Amino acid sequence: MAYKFKRQVFGFMDLLRFKKMVPLREKKLSEGSAAPIPKTYRVNQTAEILHPGTQSAELVSVESVTADMKTYTFKLSKNMMFRAGQYVTVGHAVGGSFVSRPYAISSSPYAALHEGKLSVTVKKAGFFSGWLYENAKPGDIFVIGDPSGFFFYDGVRDRKNIVGIAGGSGITPFVCMARAIAEGSEDFDLTLIYGARTQADLAFKDELDRLSGDKFRVVYVLSDEKKPGFESGFVSADIIKKYAPASYSVMMCGPQAMYDFADKQLASLGLGGKYVRKEANCIGDRDVKPQKYALTVHIRDEVFNITANSRETLLVAMERAGLRVPSKCRAGGCGYCHSRLISGKYTIAGGDKRRLADVKFGYIHPCCTYPDSDMEIEVPSGE
Ligand code: FES
Repeated sequence: MAYKFKRQVFGFMDLLRFKKMVPLREKKLSEGSAAPIPKTYRVNQTAEILHPGTQSAELVSVESVTADMKTYTFKLSKNMMFRAGQYVTVGHAVGGSFVSRPYAISSSPYAALHEGKLSVTVKKAGFFSGWLYENAKPGDIFVIGDPSGFFFYDGVRDRKNIVGIAGGSGITPFVCMARAIAEGSEDFDLTLIYGARTQADLAFKDELDRLSGDKFRVVYVLSDEKKPGFESGFVSADIIKKYAPASYSVMMCGPQAMYDFADKQLASLGLGGKYVRKEANCIGDRDVKPQKYALTVHIRDEVFNITANSRETLLVAMERAGLRVPSKCRAGGCGYCHSRLISGKYTIAGGDKRRLADVKFGYIHPCCTYPDSDMEIEVPSGE
């Protein structure tokens, strides 16, 4: 049945409402607050804390943690919020080029959010870490990036009990997690199995012992020493079984050799897939015959002709040439360095983590791409 509209001959009610509108508005305005309109809103402040962007930060202290690890503490110019286990990039000019590297945050989320302080703990290894180790001193100004990465506890993805497996400087995200659990900014159970060569190589041991309690436990495994109170050998299936709760997810952070060994141990325990997560390591040099290639780089409307080396990634080649290009994870995972391939042959290291659309439309991640011929690429500016 068709709907019948009721025709309204006189819009009396509308006329009456309209007549009252002006005095009503005047009344409302006179009742309103005389305080000036706020210039900032909580939602904007929260957004700024969650996504502070790249910021300058003063290095306020440098402390030795082991013979080859130091903790660098920065005073941030903008407080930030992050999840325990995430990383930031730390950058500085080195020899005329701006260089940055991702480091897991070792300080607690509370310190960054409420005190504007953030620490990273760095092992003396590689170009920038070695430079930091020798040169960085309090008072120096660095560039700190947004908190990034997915190496944190996620209640949807992970079981409530986490077994953390750490090796070498891979202890840093777990130190942050242990601190966060103690201060209450993270809520999960962590059993940390921490492998090192000797007791002297264990970083943060006193603090980890102090933080141990209901929700956090730590087990030390020494490969080159036998000592009472420590497990010896490598982080084996037997050791994991001995300390792990009945049901758990695994988070690992350490060198590739540790991952290769632990993968086999976990497989023998029937654990794999979504229950095992590893923090990606930065892509280093590849072991091939050195060969020089011409690399043409387009950044905005400028063109740079530089040299790339077959052993190094395209990102390293551009940084070496003094180009300011974007990077974060340096492991092919975050997509921040995402660049358009114009021509050339290449090899991707560490497994191809590009999105299907990137593969289809010819985008590469220079941080994990080695040149196999002369190449031409278009790169976003890192300024
Ligand atoms: S820097 Fe993360 S993908 Fe290249």
